[in-house]
Amino acid sequence: MNNNVLILGSGGREHAMVWKLSRESKVKNIFCIPGNAGTSQIATNKSLSLTDYDKLLEFVNKNNINLIIVGPENLLDDGIVDFFNSHNKKIFGPSKAASRLESSKIYARDIMKKYNIPHPNYFSCITRNEVQKAKEFLGFPIVLKADGLAAGKGVIICNNENEYNKALDVFFENQSFGTASDKISVEECIQGPEISIFVSCNGSQYKILNNAQDHKRAFNQDKGPNTGGMGAYAPTPLYNSKLESKIKSKIIEPTLNAMISEGHPYCGFLYFGLMLVNGDPYVIEYNVRMGDPETQVVMPMMDCSLYDLLNATLEKKLDTFNYKNKSGFCVTVVLAANGYPLKYETGNIINGLDKLKNDLVFHAGTALSDKKFIVSGGRVLNTIGYGSDLKTAINKAYKVINNVDFKNMFFRTDIGKKGLDY
Ligand code: AMP
Ligand code: GLY
Repeated sequence: MNNNVLILGSGGREHAMVWKLSRESKVKNIFCIPGNAGTSQIATNKSLSLTDYDKLLEFVNKNNINLIIVGPENLLDDGIVDFFNSHNKKIFGPSKAASRLESSKIYARDIMKKYNIPHPNYFSCITRNEVQKAKEFLGFPIVLKADGLAAGKGVIICNNENEYNKALDVFFENQSFGTASDKISVEECIQGPEISIFVSCNGSQYKILNNAQDHKRAFNQDKGPNTGGMGAYAPTPLYNSKLESKIKSKIIEPTLNAMISEGHPYCGFLYFGLMLVNGDPYVIEYNVRMGDPETQVVMPMMDCSLYDLLNATLEKKLDTFNYKNKSGFCVTVVLAANGYPLKYETGNIINGLDKLKNDLVFHAGTALSDKKFIVSGGRVLNTIGYGSDLKTAINKAYKVINNVDFKNMFFRTDIGKKGLDY
């Protein structure tokens, strides 16, 4: 059928969604703004400013776009959904007001508190003195979190006085997070395995898409700095129907009902970052979008139409939508540029991508230069492995790496290992 879809963003998450849609018969043309070298192979990339809404609207009208999908959170926080809705365009994502679930960690915590959604104890602080008082109450370990958007890097866990003083300098002296840390959520540090749940929702209707586990630290055994995510797998063996019913009744449904009560019903993908404490789920964070790299494993597992799912969500027909996943497991390993998540090398040529046959690789920070693929971002590629068991999926994702390389490429060698240990 003749449906045209526009995806906004340029990461592996967006390539994975483009790939999924490109295999669906209802979708005719896929456009990406700005996209990456991977999306350019299966969709039409367009370079337009993502903040120039009038130009974007012109593009949408000219290309008869039926559905816009927003990848990253900053666009949602800017109010892009409100703009297109006001022009009667179908766009998938939450309003600016509802996006505060991610763009203000303190707003999110206040919602959890008000509506009894399990969360760690926290204090909203502005001054050093307030942080100090919260620390004295909570003791070590303690979590300091920038209130605003900080590309997943605004969280510092302090185990002792020395780490705490260094963290205070990061927040107050170096101003590393800019205005994002005008307020700080000072939190009790809870302990347990983490699990991410991806939901497509509108008002009180929702479908759980899948659960996954991310690997946020740069190096093996969760060492090194926090990154956007170095690999993921889905589903996790931690998940079962008993846990699912707790997550639904204690977390997903109260959150959606809270947003209705607050006058900001939530529509779009909602990502629940949870920690299991003695088997009970607590909310670490909400993200108002799909995860990256988790989308790269959620899409290959999805055994129904993404286009239909998004339309059913927007039209509030999720109660009759038959959402299905394949059986088995999917793993993604992120191939990163030397230096990531700090300053990293760009411009190196990526070899092997043109020779891949049955291997699936999603691009993230890639561009085309003289018809060659080159590194243009910190997280460069995502190799994908699928298998009926997790071990097979892990082995396949790592096997794909033998076929691609670029200078000073690095990756974790333990993606999915935690899943095997559970
Ligand atoms: P976030 O960006 O909020 O997902 O935080 C990054 C990581 O910090 C999470 O994945 C957790 O591992 C950890 N974290 C954040 N908040 C807490 C908390 N209150 N207790 C324990 N760990 C936390
Ligand atoms: N992978 C973590 C995130 O997308 O925030």
